[in-house]
Amino acid sequence: MISFLDLAADFSEVEADARARIDAVLARQQFVLGPQTAELEKRMRERTGALAALACSSGSDALYLALAALGIGAGDAVVVPAFTFFASAGAVVRTGAEPVFCDVDTRGFMAGGAQFEAAIEREFGSRHGAELRHRRSGARLRALMPVHLYGQAAAMTEIVGVAGARGLAVIEDAAQAIGADVDGRSVGRWGNVGCFSFYPTKNLGGAGDGGMLLTDDGAVAARLARLRVHGASVTDPYLHEEVGINARMGEMQAAVLNAKLGRLDAWTERRRDVAARYMARLEPLSRAGALLLPHCATASQHVWHQFTVRIAERRDQVVSRMEAGGVAARVFYPRPLHLQPCFSALGYRDGDLPECEKAAAQVLCLPIYPSLGDDDVDRVCESLAAALAV
Ligand SMILES: Cc1ncc(COP(=O)(O)O)c(C=O)c1O
Repeated sequence: MISFLDLAADFSEVEADARARIDAVLARQQFVLGPQTAELEKRMRERTGALAALACSSGSDALYLALAALGIGAGDAVVVPAFTFFASAGAVVRTGAEPVFCDVDTRGFMAGGAQFEAAIEREFGSRHGAELRHRRSGARLRALMPVHLYGQAAAMTEIVGVAGARGLAVIEDAAQAIGADVDGRSVGRWGNVGCFSFYPTKNLGGAGDGGMLLTDDGAVAARLARLRVHGASVTDPYLHEEVGINARMGEMQAAVLNAKLGRLDAWTERRRDVAARYMARLEPLSRAGALLLPHCATASQHVWHQFTVRIAERRDQVVSRMEAGGVAARVFYPRPLHLQPCFSALGYRDGDLPECEKAAAQVLCLPIYPSLGDDDVDRVCESLAAALAV
């Protein structure tokens, strides 16, 4: 059996350090926002060059906090790609704002400048300079939320250009893309705030939920720091000038993450090797038109959280046949967000965002993780070829 993930193998490489750090937390009995969290924040600042890094309870909470810290709430709208994990849009709704969905491109499954631009024109009209109000709801457009899907950096130069021309904020959903960059600048540092997830299956995963916020704006950083502790003043914990949430990071999480962080770059390199082997081994199938291989602009832009091929027909049968043959494959994500029942009041219909719908019907994610061996990759490719041939 080739599993979809092998978290135990990753952990075994850092187990001694993780256990020592956890022991230190237990000895100290300070369980939230203590020295382990401070170390993780410092290392994230140093790795990315960000002015501020704030650890928090999850990637979902990071997105919520980012939006709230930029003052986005009721009466506002944020453009979000419809082909992403639910949390990207869920966070917008939690602030009281309205998600407006945009399509993605065919090759990278992501929204770039053109897709954000098209959504703005379609749903708000294209007046430059003036406030953009949603045609149906009247909500005021405030921000774009690019998602670095599957570990690949979105086209940030373009996106920041589209936002800048209209005075919009940019909140990056970098939950899947820690370690990726565009032209040497880390994801999460292109927009106003960048949000990361440390969910256990992520490239850097904790022993539970966790997240991280990056920003280069000192005032936004100060507000984020307050909002993650119920809006309390940093100097007076019982003074609240606004309402936040409890989004603190636990020290146990930070301990595990600190232990793993030292291995992240090596793990990313191994993911890149696995991806390169998939590309080479699957090339004949791609040439024969049986599948589409993922697109990767430059090596450093992709950290291969997922290796995702596109299969034009009978994708679900291919998954079942692979599973039956002992190879795990997954579909992220089978239903685009604009067609989720909870968003039906927004009025989207089948066919509104065709590339998102096509991606949801066609994507297939293959196992990719640092301990996956070359022989395993070859077996996955054989299994996929056999499943496609039926
Ligand atoms: C694209 C994307 N956004 C947001 C999240 C939310 O992160 P979390 O699960 O840490 O809340 C995830 C991961 O689960 C994700 O993949």
